[in-house]
Amino acid sequence: MAAVLAGIGGFLPPRVVTNEDLSATLDTSDEWIRTRTGISERRVVSGGTSTGDLAVQAGARALRSAGVDAVDAVVVATTSPERLCPAVAPEVASRLGLGQVAAFDLTSACSGFLYGLAASAGLIASGAADTVLFIGAEAFTTLVNPQDRSTAPIFGDGAGAVVLRRGEPDEPGALGPFDLGSDGSLADLLAVPAGGSRQRSADGGLGHGAVPTEDWYLRMEGRPLYQQAVEHMTQSAQAVLKHADWSVADVDWFVGHQANVRIVRAVAEELELPEERVAVNIDRVGNTLSASVPLLLNDIAARGDLRPGDRVLLSAFGAGLSWGSTVLVWPDITAVAVN
Ligand code: UT7
Repeated sequence: MAAVLAGIGGFLPPRVVTNEDLSATLDTSDEWIRTRTGISERRVVSGGTSTGDLAVQAGARALRSAGVDAVDAVVVATTSPERLCPAVAPEVASRLGLGQVAAFDLTSACSGFLYGLAASAGLIASGAADTVLFIGAEAFTTLVNPQDRSTAPIFGDGAGAVVLRRGEPDEPGALGPFDLGSDGSLADLLAVPAGGSRQRSADGGLGHGAVPTEDWYLRMEGRPLYQQAVEHMTQSAQAVLKHADWSVADVDWFVGHQANVRIVRAVAEELELPEERVAVNIDRVGNTLSASVPLLLNDIAARGDLRPGDRVLLSAFGAGLSWGSTVLVWPDITAVAVN
């Protein structure tokens, strides 16, 4: 028994913010952003669009791709929830007409898609579900300080979704073994300090008045994160390849979390994977956290580069710190290009 990929879809909010747009208000340049990150433009939510709105659009596309209108469970990975409480997954299930199915959120920042795949596969393995709609959805730009040039250019919003069904381990689309890990001793390298219980319980009360504005925004130490990302994505990818009994030569596509094109290329170099087998779409979307890997899979499948039978290595790293990898043989499913 295995969890098998049966459908995929993605959604990006329509508002495009280019590097030139950012350079108008920030001390930065198109050249710096492109050469240091690989990003040219990103999509940004506006007008009250929420994480749930993005999730519903991507989820509907994944259901269409799978040719189903019912699932047993809905899981949403997000680090930019539309509310602190409750989880958005039940509302997404309801808005998609999926009824009173099992539904919950999980939070694992940029590795959210890998953790969510493993959790969804676990629902299937436990017998709790035969089919799962799993969505990575992020409106993370709402947590980024528009005045901070070290973070504002990097992130983008969007959602990517997959449908998983119960199947056999040797069929195309079966998720392989997983490698998952974390290092909470480095949690402060990427964090939003305010809004949670630590801040809300401070000073004997909610203490909102005492919270500096910048605490409501993301704080990130880019350089050490960069090193951690390369190290852990490489080690995790190697671990999962070993567990799956694949060699690097078996990998047709490396689909790594799009945090920085230099990170993805450095990992590929460590793995000795040639550049033409490394998938990249960060130039158009930036870092979309848990939506990054499914949006990239959808992109390369929709343009016909990723074909049925191709062997795919997925790997991601993010805040927490947390990381994860898995492998699969690409199944014969429909992917439609995202707007
Ligand atoms: O999603 C998973 C978690 N996140 C990550 O994995 C992010 C990992 N880190 C990175 O991708 C990179 O560290 C960044 C893209 C964030 C930064 O690139 P970098 O090459 O590490 O630059 P840096 O932070 O070392 O800064 C180099 C210089 C500094 O100037 P000085 O001190 O050398 O004079 C910065 O002040 O670039 C300056 N700088 C900028 N200049 C123009 C920083 N941001 C900008 C900017 N425009 N936007």
